[in-house]
Amino acid sequence: MRSVLVTGCKGQLGIELSRSPPAGTETHGVDLPELDITDATAVMRHLESLRPQVVINCAAYTAVDRAESDADAAFRVNRDGARNLALAATRIGARIVHISTDFVFDGCKSSPYLPDDAPSPLGVYGQSKLEGERGVLDAAASALVVRTAWLYSAHGSNFVKTMLRLMQEKPELRVVADQIGTPTAATSLARALWALLEANAPAGIYHFSDAGAASWYDLACAVRELALPHLAATPAPIVPIRTQDYPTPARRPAYSVLDKTATWALIGNGRHWREPLAEVVNALLAAR
Ligand SMILES: NC(=O)c1ccc[n+]([C@@H]2O[C@H](COP(=O)([O-])OP(=O)(O)OC[C@H]3O[C@@H](n4cnc5c(N)ncnc54)[C@H](OP(=O)(O)O)[C@@H]3O)[C@@H](O)[C@H]2O)c1
Repeated sequence: MRSVLVTGCKGQLGIELSRSPPAGTETHGVDLPELDITDATAVMRHLESLRPQVVINCAAYTAVDRAESDADAAFRVNRDGARNLALAATRIGARIVHISTDFVFDGCKSSPYLPDDAPSPLGVYGQSKLEGERGVLDAAASALVVRTAWLYSAHGSNFVKTMLRLMQEKPELRVVADQIGTPTAATSLARALWALLEANAPAGIYHFSDAGAASWYDLACAVRELALPHLAATPAPIVPIRTQDYPTPARRPAYSVLDKTATWALIGNGRHWREPLAEVVNALLAAR
């Protein structure tokens, strides 16, 4: 039986990983307050006692806007915490899989970002995640760093759930239409991570999101279309707006589609983002 430690197990991705281990794998989930990954001593002690073969780090400071005014906390978790885990994994001979983000890029490209394209984050969150990637790769020779994007699930708070709620509460929704990326279901990412481990993927940086591309406006419209037949009242219409009309503390990349060619060569092609979106929206509507 292969033992896998999942940190951040109460988050969107951690929940889906904990639910979906392949046959022959058992997961051990930890999150705050049991294990704070910023505490290097506690991390070392935990790994030395559990001795997993693999550590998947889903723990992160993910509040992109709050990070702008709370940089110390973002760096402590996303840079220092990730490195603590990588050092401890190396010490016990475990492989670490670390999750990173499309926000390491500045969005100036207009074709999908390759894993070795030069990163240039626009904000504190992206910078802290980039330094986390580098710390992990430095500390753990066998590490897999998997960048993903626009994650959502039936759990926690995310754009899909927020849109579904607001379109039933507000008269109109105004959604940014000039930022392009790829919505990614946490279920899809969990499946991809298990497949990369099963494939014994060579160490390095990988990109994974669902397939295709969309703006936040496209995603909101897709959620509305899926929900429409199930709602008693007509959901609010959605109006496309420009980034400049929706100012936020953190700047976001205008384009952050990830090139998945190398990942797909190892684990097979992914699904278009609309397929898992339908599953999640249907599950959310059924649970009402
Ligand atoms: N969400 C996205 O759109 C997105 C996009 C691209 C990449 N990613 C990356 O994907 C990964 C998973 O994201 P997610 O959406 O699943 O995140 P999430 O739902 O925010 O979950 C992160 C988990 O980590 C925990 N955590 C925070 N600080 C910790 C610490 N010091 N020690 C231990 N655990 C801690 C959080 O606890 P609290 O809730 O109590 O803080 C939470 O349970 C992250 O690496 C993230 O950067 C996410």
